[in-house]
Amino acid sequence: MRILVTGGAGFVGSSLALAFKNDNPSAEIIAADNLKRRGSELNLPRLREAGIRFEHADIREPDDIAALGPMDLLLECSAEPSVQAGYSGSPAYLLDTNLRGTLNCLEAARHHDAIMVFLSTSRIYPIDPLCALPLETENHALSIPSGATGPGWSEHGIAEGFPLDGHRSLYGTTKLASEQFIEEYRAAFGLKAIINRCGVLAGPWQMGKVDQGFMCLWAARHLYGGKLSYNGFGGFGHQVRDVLHVADLYDLLVRQLADMEISAKGVWNVGGGKANATSLRQLSAACAARARRELDIVSHPDTNPADIPWFVTDARRAMAAFGWAPKRPLDILLDEIFDWLEAKRESLQPLLS
Ligand SMILES: NC(=O)c1ccc[n+]([C@@H]2O[C@H](COP(=O)([O-])OP(=O)(O)OC[C@H]3O[C@@H](n4cnc5c(N)ncnc54)[C@H](O)[C@@H]3O)[C@@H](O)[C@H]2O)c1
Repeated sequence: MRILVTGGAGFVGSSLALAFKNDNPSAEIIAADNLKRRGSELNLPRLREAGIRFEHADIREPDDIAALGPMDLLLECSAEPSVQAGYSGSPAYLLDTNLRGTLNCLEAARHHDAIMVFLSTSRIYPIDPLCALPLETENHALSIPSGATGPGWSEHGIAEGFPLDGHRSLYGTTKLASEQFIEEYRAAFGLKAIINRCGVLAGPWQMGKVDQGFMCLWAARHLYGGKLSYNGFGGFGHQVRDVLHVADLYDLLVRQLADMEISAKGVWNVGGGKANATSLRQLSAACAARARRELDIVSHPDTNPADIPWFVTDARRAMAAFGWAPKRPLDILLDEIFDWLEAKRESLQPLLS
């Protein structure tokens, strides 16, 4: 078994590479990454210690991917993962990596007859219909009123059937376009691929920044000190996301890979769901309790055009199909992140505070 993990030094890539190696010690696992994300280099020692080979490679370059050799499984975890990317300056890097680069990976998977796992995103769902949902505020958090429902949405969250008309951000469009190319490769070449539309993923070793990885950023700023702000939607911090522990994503992947007849068709919403949803205000309270420090968080009421007020993943289809459910609730996830931030303070504080 030879597994190539592109973006293998990133948060999800390194977490999955290590989990696969732990469960399959004889597998040869290669983590390829161009180390564009600040902090990804901190993952290199633990990959090495686990016996995972690191290769510096850029998925925008087909020759870089070819040099990595054949693989049985390609976990495509490299990306510019920020929904804010591409708006200031040129979107070229975003498009070249998330679209062209993903197509290069797809072509490598076809060439080597490998299974491809693609990490799509909840941000493929269009912004205007998400902003038009009938949200109410309760306990410093937005929510869908109990019993309210519409096409592809309910109090359980956003399901795969949510209508796709409308704009969705440059990032979301690169992911939706990639999904559609994967569908074409399935039809034309019989490529076996799993497409998981992930909501927010979190866990230790996420190098959180303002526009991506908010759980770790929030925890780090509370622990180490630093500034935070509630941006958009009036500046109240009531916006909500559900969060999935990356180890729960791994558990799902193991089940999906064992059942390719089902998993290689269509798309799967994957997320922590309603039980693991939090607003920023609620997250601040949880972080303040753990760090024993309350931050003075400023409000910026104006909303960024790519932002949405509420997203909770309705992952019930994947749960039913694979007998899977998230096992690590939000409080455990946050505890793990705080333990990691405490243990690695010396290297992480300069990066995350
Ligand atoms: N983290 C989340 O909440 C989340 C949610 C939904 C989907 N996803 C998707 O999961 C995947 C992994 O995200 P992540 O959170 O680990 O992000 P990350 O930034 O931690 O990891 C991505 C890695 O890709 C590398 N990379 C960037 N451009 C590259 C290129 N051209 N060639 C090679 N490597 C390159 C970066 O250096 C980084 O190490 C992405 O596809 C992302 O869109 C993440």
